[in-house]
Amino acid sequence: MERVPIAALASAAKSEAPEVLVAGFVAAIRVLKRMIFVVLRDRTGQVQVTIERSAADAAARALEQAALSLTVGSAIRVRGRLTENSAVKVGGIEVIASEIDVVGPAEPRLPVDEDSASDLQLDWRFLALRRPTNHLVFEVQTTVECAMREYWAQHSFLELHSPKLMHSASESGADTFATPYFELGTAYLAQSPQFYKQMAMAAGFERVFEVGPVFRAEPSLTPRHAAEFTSVDVELSWIDSHDDVMRMEEVWLRHVLSTVQREHREAIARELGVEIRIPAVPFPRLTMRDAHGFLSSQGHVIPDVTKPGDIDPAGERLLARWALEAHGSEFLFLTDYPASLRPFYHMRYDEEPGVTKSFDLLWKGVEITTGAQREHRYARLARQAEEAGLRESVSYYLDFFRYGCPPHGGFGLGLARLVMLMLGLPSIREATFLHRGPNRLTP
Ligand code: 4AD
Ligand code: MG
Repeated sequence: MERVPIAALASAAKSEAPEVLVAGFVAAIRVLKRMIFVVLRDRTGQVQVTIERSAADAAARALEQAALSLTVGSAIRVRGRLTENSAVKVGGIEVIASEIDVVGPAEPRLPVDEDSASDLQLDWRFLALRRPTNHLVFEVQTTVECAMREYWAQHSFLELHSPKLMHSASESGADTFATPYFELGTAYLAQSPQFYKQMAMAAGFERVFEVGPVFRAEPSLTPRHAAEFTSVDVELSWIDSHDDVMRMEEVWLRHVLSTVQREHREAIARELGVEIRIPAVPFPRLTMRDAHGFLSSQGHVIPDVTKPGDIDPAGERLLARWALEAHGSEFLFLTDYPASLRPFYHMRYDEEPGVTKSFDLLWKGVEITTGAQREHRYARLARQAEEAGLRESVSYYLDFFRYGCPPHGGFGLGLARLVMLMLGLPSIREATFLHRGPNRLTP
């Protein structure tokens, strides 16, 4: 007999085949004098399984024993008769069990429940993930990635799978994980596919994307940082400026949000009380210079701990409020960052070499993307690498620009940050299958 997903039982109840096989986890057990009620949950929903406590024959007594020895969390298969019963709270149907098969018994007393502290939830992540709200998070994440890929496929992007073991750091030397590497000495775990997506531009790929793991040895414990995360990267050739990259990103994100809204609006509202708003394009843009001007006009003082020229998280939230009030937008592009805040490979304005053709995208006041037009002119790029003290270590990267490379730019986006903000989750830990941070290497 074929297993019926629980959500499909309602229509099965109306058909001529009341014998069903269902399977899932035991969510609750209630033992009464004449009946035992078990709430069974699979990914699609939950249903009441009813065991009648008649001692009619040996089979009935065995069934009763099986039901009495069930534990919450166990993985079971149940055969039974599907019955409509308006007295049943979940869905008005029940399965009157004739056979229970405990295929994966759970030890009594689960170590976590919904109210446990978040660190304990992470220790027992697989149990926390069983909850329907968490299933929804990953259904949404799946839709997000499908919608991204749908856009890329329709716009002739090629997919990359670039190596994660690298000869040198791609973003900043301080935040890399190092590992011994054969006779060659040390390898570094990729902080970004940055160099290789640019190599694809030198290879004439013109438009590429990559969705893959990246590693940052930042000792950060904030709700926005992980030591390993999934980075969504895009790179485009033949652009005129970073604005071409921003225009691609906003249209692409609008497609992603429209798709999520179409497919999950009701479930997201029900499970998380969050409304998905489809953004209008173009998103508002503000240069860093104007952003600083706005913040000082508001009397906001950027604390000293922030790098000179940068904006602190509270400042970013003020800017986000401005974008919402003045433009009705949850998104805001901050552009034209000072070169001192950007990696050596960002292109600088000819007329203003202290400023880069770069941007960050904030959503609801949190950075989700950094992007830029890249310096593709070998002599300048080599000089910028030299100034950053990287000339030797990135010489293989500099070679990409010696034999003809088109102007190009792109961006990187943290997948978990996007999902966290989309669903109003308290941290990226809830938007990640398994979190990796300074204090966490298990499970
Ligand atoms: O801002 P980042 O460091 O930029 C780059 O990696 C560049 N190579 C991108 C480019 O194409 N110019 O990282 C990109 C995004 C951030 O905006 C953020 O969403 C996410 O990656 N991110 C993190 N997410 C979780 N944990 C961390 N430690 C993150 N660091 C960055
Ligand atoms: Mg950034």
